[in-house]
Amino acid sequence: MRYPIVQTGMGWVAGARLASATSNAGGLGIIAAATMSLGELDEAISEVARRTDNPYGVNMRTDQADTKDRAKLIASRGVKVVSFAQAPNQALVEQLRQAGVVTVATVGAPRHAIKVASMGVDCVIAQGSEGGGHTGAIPTSLLLPSVVDSVDIPVIGAGGFYDGRGLVAALAYGAQGIAMGTRFLLSLESTVPDVVKAKYLAASLADTVVTTAIDGAPQRVIITEKIRSMEKAGRLAAYLRAIRAARAFQMVSGESFLSLLKEGKSMKSSQELSWSQVIMAASAPMLTKAAMVEGNLEAGILPTGQVVGEIDSLPSVQEIIDSIVVQAKEILEKLRTA
Ligand SMILES: Cc1cc2nc3c(=O)[nH]c(=O)nc-3n(C[C@H](O)[C@H](O)[C@H](O)COP(=O)(O)O)c2cc1C
Repeated sequence: MRYPIVQTGMGWVAGARLASATSNAGGLGIIAAATMSLGELDEAISEVARRTDNPYGVNMRTDQADTKDRAKLIASRGVKVVSFAQAPNQALVEQLRQAGVVTVATVGAPRHAIKVASMGVDCVIAQGSEGGGHTGAIPTSLLLPSVVDSVDIPVIGAGGFYDGRGLVAALAYGAQGIAMGTRFLLSLESTVPDVVKAKYLAASLADTVVTTAIDGAPQRVIITEKIRSMEKAGRLAAYLRAIRAARAFQMVSGESFLSLLKEGKSMKSSQELSWSQVIMAASAPMLTKAAMVEGNLEAGILPTGQVVGEIDSLPSVQEIIDSIVVQAKEILEKLRTA
């Protein structure tokens, strides 16, 4: 990597095109594989490898029936980095590290950073509450210094970053770099439909909310009619919707009912969820897909960082990275000579 800038894994958003563009621009592109089948991941890796000679990563779930096969594929194809979409487990971390893959876990609290560091994870992304998708309660300005003080492994800041000022701030807190989701979602190379990008560009800093109505875990999204109605709906309506969507995800992902059930059992024990939460979690990807792939603003949900309110353009990934680096260098020079 030429620059300490990571494009994070975003389900249905961070495909081969976005990841390779980022790695070609000097950052680290990450393929979002949590919403891909094993075959799709295989294809995405081949495509990124065709498009770039620079290092790139894969974001993966830790509780799928074929997790071991995915890890084997990743290692055999020379992928340099794996980031986890959920809390990692020791066996998976060991399997990847023994194969020479650098492992990265996202944390929202210092105690989580300590826990994953004790598992042998190589690096943490400390994501503050302003970040997109599933997110914690501690803002980046407090989480970052506190995680830096808690662990001896490299820390990357996430949640609310979009420019050179943010990069310098993260370095000042002791981080090694920044990771961004929303900024890269709003780029030329992002395959998100234009109608959805327009909705994001129109959003202000106050137009997002953290809700548990989607899958039981706090997730930051743009406030829409869909979110309002999900928050109002009773539990029964939520479960019925979740069962329908989980069934649809099963068909799209090509997973057998049995393997989905196995995954559900493993999610239930590793994340201490109830069966109803497991069904809701399995259904959530379909709601994101409706927006991010099909452009359906009524049926879909719009995961986002609060930073969406500060973004009003769709530059190329190269322009995003170059402008961050130029601005960061200018600031550092100003501080040095002040
Ligand atoms: C549309 C969207 C989808 C996401 N999907 C995933 C995912 O599949 N796996 C994951 O680890 N994080 C996911 N995230 C979280 C991002 O990878 C990243 O940590 C977050 O967006 C950083 O905050 P920022 O948006 O303020 O830059 C998603 C975020 C967004 C906005």
